[in-house]
Amino acid sequence: MKKYAVIVAAGSGLRMGTSTPKQFLLLHGKPIVWHTIEAFLHAFDDIEIILVMADDYMDTGKKIIQTTKSPDHIRLTAGGETRFHSVKNGIQYIHHPSIVFVHDAVRCLVSQALIHSCYHAAMEKGNAIPAIKSTDSIRIEKENGNEVVDRNKVMIIQTPQTFQSDIIKSAFAQDYSEIFTDEASVVEQQGIKINLVEGEKTNIKITQPIDLIIAEHLLKSKISKSSG
Ligand code: C5P
Repeated sequence: MKKYAVIVAAGSGLRMGTSTPKQFLLLHGKPIVWHTIEAFLHAFDDIEIILVMADDYMDTGKKIIQTTKSPDHIRLTAGGETRFHSVKNGIQYIHHPSIVFVHDAVRCLVSQALIHSCYHAAMEKGNAIPAIKSTDSIRIEKENGNEVVDRNKVMIIQTPQTFQSDIIKSAFAQDYSEIFTDEASVVEQQGIKINLVEGEKTNIKITQPIDLIIAEHLLKSKISKSSG
């Protein structure tokens, strides 16, 4: 089956507190989004990447693409006002029955094993959403205080959120709603059951300065394992 990875990199990344959006910060001498693109290019020889970037960063995107292993497998397109609109812009270029990964540009430590397990689960069940359990206790805020939640019933959701192309394309034809925080929430709105697969603790979303330190360390140990 044909494969596409829509890598969403059009956010402003303000929580990092830097003037450069977090997806362009350097990790091991390369922009974070470069590592993310390479992870998908290495996962499948025949994968096509759709890289979604904000208008102001198109030239940066073009330059990054030229330094990857397969620039001719990557299409660059403009993002939208929200993540929903960015994904919608990206998937318009998918015309073949395929498996579609939607992945946060800032989750550059995603493993080949996770990409492959999402692919197989989405082939079988229509969609595959990586999730991990919380190791922290969880509380929810209430009108008059807060209340503990059974943490075994709470799942932390990651990407690549993976779908058969007909499912994601028809879900993104609906109107935008503020409840759409990820692609699973868009697809679920169509009455489709979401299929969770085991995510990875190391598949972190680089959001705050501390995440960059953790990612640098994880990447170093990944590189030393693969070279030794
Ligand atoms: O804002 P948040 O951290 O949830 O963003 C998740 C991912 O979605 C990031 O990789 C970000 O670049 C992307 N995004 C986007 N277009 C937007 C907003 C976020 O591509 N308008």
